[in-house]
Amino acid sequence: MGKLLVTGGAGFIGSNFVHLVMDNTDDTVIVLDKMGYAGNESSLVGLPANRFTLVVGDVCDRELVDRLVAKVDTVVHFAAESHNDNSLDDPEPFIMTNLYGTFALLEAVRAHDKRYHHISTDEVYGDLEIGSSERFCETTPYRPSSPYSSSKAGSDHLVRSWVRSFEIRATLSNCSNNYGPRQHVEKFIPRQITNVIDGIRPKLYGQGLNVRDWIHVDDHNSAVLRILEAGVIGETYLIGADGEKNNRSVIESILFQMGQPTDAYDHVTNRPGHDMRYAIDATKLRTELGWEPVHSNFEIGLASTIEWYRTNESWWRKQKKFVEVRYATREQ
Ligand code: NAD
Ligand code: TYD
Repeated sequence: MGKLLVTGGAGFIGSNFVHLVMDNTDDTVIVLDKMGYAGNESSLVGLPANRFTLVVGDVCDRELVDRLVAKVDTVVHFAAESHNDNSLDDPEPFIMTNLYGTFALLEAVRAHDKRYHHISTDEVYGDLEIGSSERFCETTPYRPSSPYSSSKAGSDHLVRSWVRSFEIRATLSNCSNNYGPRQHVEKFIPRQITNVIDGIRPKLYGQGLNVRDWIHVDDHNSAVLRILEAGVIGETYLIGADGEKNNRSVIESILFQMGQPTDAYDHVTNRPGHDMRYAIDATKLRTELGWEPVHSNFEIGLASTIEWYRTNESWWRKQKKFVEVRYATREQ
């Protein structure tokens, strides 16, 4: 891959991706991140200075994006506004970053003829019925529900149209829900782990029967590396590791592993438009590119994630109070 531009590399998945690249290749990485509320510089400490640069800036800044894209061989675009609940409070930053930011990158990639990989989500497909055996695959029609998922859906359409009309060298991936170290405490799993650490009861939206298809962040990122190595230009790959669980069972696992009674949680106000179930069929990625997840045991991955939040309190402590104040305005 040579020189990489990783947008959103100070966020959850992007920072874990940068560590994976540093540990497993000789590549050089430039991270472009605006260091908004979800960017955390301490996620990038200890990286080799001769192979790593952090540029603080916005993916919507076309002049900056053009200058950085010109310097690299490959762009991996993680940067996004990423939280559904925030998108329901205020959709505008989602439209700006997820749509206009992707447009800015595509124009720079087109001008400089660079390889581009677009990181997206399974939420573009909407939701599935609880209890059905149906799963999303690459041909499932788009049916996004929230400002977050519709802005990601729009960004995917932009990429495909730039491939078709301008022949840019792009691939796309749509992954299911990630968990693991360095995830912002606004998200479901780290929120509940840090609640238990703080003596706060975990908060379950509605009845908690909604299903998410959990994948460890390192498995997501190993799939992205595989697509960069062997993916076919213009193609989309769904990434998932057969990790379907309902939210209630995830909270019960967290409580059990943290030595609490498994019913010591509260039901709170449900999310408007809450998607019921996501599930990924990753057959194409597995058969065409030979990818396999290695962290398929959720309970083991959850245990190491709990351990990470216990031993890295300084990483999340500053954000926790702000996040819980914001949730308190939404939840009863
Ligand atoms: P995150 O919120 O933890 O990180 C996003 C990063 O992007 C942050 O560091 C933030 O500062 C940066 N950023 C936001 N707006 C920016 C802008 N305008 N310019 C530059 N940087 C900006 O999110 P994440 O969970 O790491 O998600 C990364 C990508 O993966 C997103 O594209 C998301 O849609 C996708 N994705 C996430 C999941 C998941 O479970 N978290 C699953 C599938 C796909
Ligand atoms: P989240 O981490 O926000 O991811 P997404 O909305 O992209 O799936 O939420 C995962 C699931 O957990 C989702 O069904 C909403 C639910 N949830 C709760 O029950 N309680 C919470 O405190 C949060 C943040 C989410």
